[in-house]
Amino acid sequence: MEDGFQVVHLGAEDYDAIVALWQAAGLPYKPTGRDSRTQFAAQMASGLQQAIGVRAGEQLIGVVLVTHDSRKGWINRLAVHPDFRRRGVARLLIAEAERVLRDKGLQIFAALVEGWNEASLAFFAAAGYSAHPDIRYFTKRDDAGV
Ligand SMILES: CC(C)(COP(=O)(O)OP(=O)(O)OC[C@H]1O[C@@H](n2cnc3c(N)ncnc32)[C@H](O)[C@@H]1OP(=O)(O)O)[C@@H](O)C(=O)NCCC(=O)NCCS
Repeated sequence: MEDGFQVVHLGAEDYDAIVALWQAAGLPYKPTGRDSRTQFAAQMASGLQQAIGVRAGEQLIGVVLVTHDSRKGWINRLAVHPDFRRRGVARLLIAEAERVLRDKGLQIFAALVEGWNEASLAFFAAAGYSAHPDIRYFTKRDDAGV
């Protein structure tokens, strides 16, 4: 694979490396909520979520969480280490995420991207995703940290 990058499937035991990568990437995440160690382990045990990574040698340099609700596949928490950007790592992650979802019969792949996130907006456009600026995202949360 280009630059020796290796696509791998990760597990609950990779939690610390995944969090370290999210932090290095500056990705907003919820360490006391749905991204806590306990909740991450529960998500992985549920069988609904797969964590896909890219390694350069031993180092984890990219990660994405993939889930589905039986109607759509959801791409979550995509992050690439700043030292390895613009080398196709996110493309590798999304290609594997889509392959995993297609294997489960999913034909719609979706991601939520905040409007300030120019890199992510540009990435998803380049990866063939259509933006829907007419859609407003509404949520209701039991707690701000969930
Ligand atoms: C968004 C992110 C995952 C992209 O990862 P990456 O590995 O650098 O992306 P790739 O190298 O696979 O990029 C593929 C294409 O996407 C587009 N792209 C990626 N980053 C871009 C940027 N900063 N500006 C403009 N276009 C960009 C380009 O078309 C690029 O192809 P090119 O390099 O041949 O021009 C990375 O910038 C990141 O981790 N950002 C911080 C975390 C984050 O915001 N995650 C998304 C949450 S929704």
